[in-house]
Amino acid sequence: MDKIEAQKQIEKLRKVINHHRYLYHVLDRQEISDEALDSLKHELKKLEDRFPDLITPDSPTQRVGGKALKEFKKVRHNVPMLSLEDAFLPEEITDWISRNSKVVRDAGSAALFAELKFDGLAMSLIYIDGVLDRALTRGDGRIGEDVTQNARTVEAIPLRLEIRGKVSEAVRKEAEKIIKKGVIEARGEIIITKKNFAKVNAEQKKAGKQIFANPRNLAAGSIRQLDSAITKSRRLDFHAYDLIADFGQVLHSEEHEILSALGFKTDEKAKIFHDLKSLFSYREKIESERSRFEYETDGIVVSVDDNDLFGRLGVVGKTPRGAIAFKFTPHESTTVIEDIIVQVGRTGAITPVAVLRPVQIGGVTVSRATLHNEDEIKRLDTRIGDTVIVGRAGDVIPDIKKVLKELRPRNTEEFRMPKKCPVCGEELKREGVILRCINPKCSARHRESLYHFASRGAFDIDGLGPKIIDAFLDNGLIQDAADLFALKEGGIRPLERFGEKSAENIIKAIQSRRAIGLVRFILGLGILHVGEETALDLAERFASLKALQNASRDDLEAIPNVGGIVAESIHNWFRDAHNKEFLKKLLKYVKVENARGKTKGRLFAKTFVLTGSLRSLSRDEAKSKIRALAGNVSEAVSSKTDFVVAGSDPGSKYEKAKKLGVKIIDEKEFLKMLR
Ligand code: IVH
Repeated sequence: MDKIEAQKQIEKLRKVINHHRYLYHVLDRQEISDEALDSLKHELKKLEDRFPDLITPDSPTQRVGGKALKEFKKVRHNVPMLSLEDAFLPEEITDWISRNSKVVRDAGSAALFAELKFDGLAMSLIYIDGVLDRALTRGDGRIGEDVTQNARTVEAIPLRLEIRGKVSEAVRKEAEKIIKKGVIEARGEIIITKKNFAKVNAEQKKAGKQIFANPRNLAAGSIRQLDSAITKSRRLDFHAYDLIADFGQVLHSEEHEILSALGFKTDEKAKIFHDLKSLFSYREKIESERSRFEYETDGIVVSVDDNDLFGRLGVVGKTPRGAIAFKFTPHESTTVIEDIIVQVGRTGAITPVAVLRPVQIGGVTVSRATLHNEDEIKRLDTRIGDTVIVGRAGDVIPDIKKVLKELRPRNTEEFRMPKKCPVCGEELKREGVILRCINPKCSARHRESLYHFASRGAFDIDGLGPKIIDAFLDNGLIQDAADLFALKEGGIRPLERFGEKSAENIIKAIQSRRAIGLVRFILGLGILHVGEETALDLAERFASLKALQNASRDDLEAIPNVGGIVAESIHNWFRDAHNKEFLKKLLKYVKVENARGKTKGRLFAKTFVLTGSLRSLSRDEAKSKIRALAGNVSEAVSSKTDFVVAGSDPGSKYEKAKKLGVKIIDEKEFLKMLR
């Protein structure tokens, strides 16, 4: 193929890829499979490799790449990024309107535009001649940080603007002109789904890394990564809500239409209101539905729809008079911190935890909340005896939002993290924000690693939870995970917890894991910094345990997503005398199945709940098929469930799934996934 032909083919491929990206990431529709799209991208990449001077910055291949940055450049915003005043009650909205009508008379009866207030991070995207030129964070509103390389990894952000949807003829004409030559700024929110938030935190926890307090923190932390590969792995999303460019529009609602026509995701629930009564009931309706939204929202933004009027109302301090954040009643409550304890995790990470006077928040009793780490305790200045505001991050994880210092009793003391491990007494080591017990023999760490070994992502031993493992350890029945496989029914039956049946079931469950896939095996070892994604990458690269054991630091570091620290940790693990001995012992009982090619067992780490009866297979068969493809099966529906398989006559799990917004699939779809 000569260069001219290549150019034509490249253009065609880019168009098709971009079209499917838009369908999938913006419109939430899929017409071709992920595999087919990947293979188109691969075709394009091959051609661009042959003709590198045909690569352009808006090519779909340019969504990730480039070296990790040392720091972000500070850039001044062309137009300052303002913030919004908050209102919580309808009366405050009525007041806002009467205040405004004193500034500009027409404001009293003006139409209002209401849209969701997504809880993420504000971002400005600048397109020059239709191509994404720069992405800036809000920063202090005047000066933001240049995160262009990271923004490119967000599939919902177009790298090139095209007119895709319906717009008036006049707007289309202007748009065509400005896309060809001119500057367009789109502003919006970088966000992450509640589900991805839970997933990333679970991963982080397993790998002994920092836990994020809420989806907003995670979105912000992800877009501000110096290494864009990490940003990409977080699967961020973007919703646009403001347009700075003159298309002849006169209303804010038109800007939403234009943004949508330019290929951005915009809020589908946004609406124009002519009276306050319907605005208030709209907000109430959204509030009652919001726990089922994929994304965290913390209110609605109400703006004067007429842009000219918005401008005439002006700005007070950093907030425009023409818009207001009408916040939801928060899912929060106040309570008292009765104690602060520290827990030692599997990787030795020390986590301070607040023991709370139990409170009901969003229908659940909360009695503990993580305080994350020392820096976070300092930031909030949390002390025993404090009255605090507790919420639930991503509507799930209890989270201390604020300390009410006015209510602090006298004589409280600042909380200090221990210098030594509370369990084994080893001197603690500080790694960034994390304090760690580095004693590999620490009994608390050991206990946690056994829990981890049996857990769903790793060996997935049915019924073997922390309580039973505690009983085994405390009664001297096991020393390490390998000993689990030598347990006999008779040996464990005398333990209080077992009736005859469950002792038998536990032994059966343990024995059934004596043949185990490589990914689960690697995860089960509990190597520091090795979470699910890394275990998958390792299994894919090395295919056998032997090859992984023999891998050099360089071999390990050559894997994309495995950096120096992770490579070092893996390499050291396999060379530690104690670990070597454990591995030898474990392998006497367990046979590790080598990975064949792509191990990404299609259902890896996906959690299924079965309800109702299936026609073509029994429940047990369904369970073992899911597990064979590396998926998990759970009995109860929660926000961590990925799929509920509904057979005929589904039970209450079906209702729960609907309520939580968990994806429900029927038998036909389920069978397709197993194929
Ligand atoms: S309008 C004049 N619309 O809320 C300010 N903001 O406190 C223009 N936000 O920093 C913002 N969703 O990060 C607007 N639909 C929406 C929004 C939204 C989320 C955030 C944004 C801003 C903060 C305002």
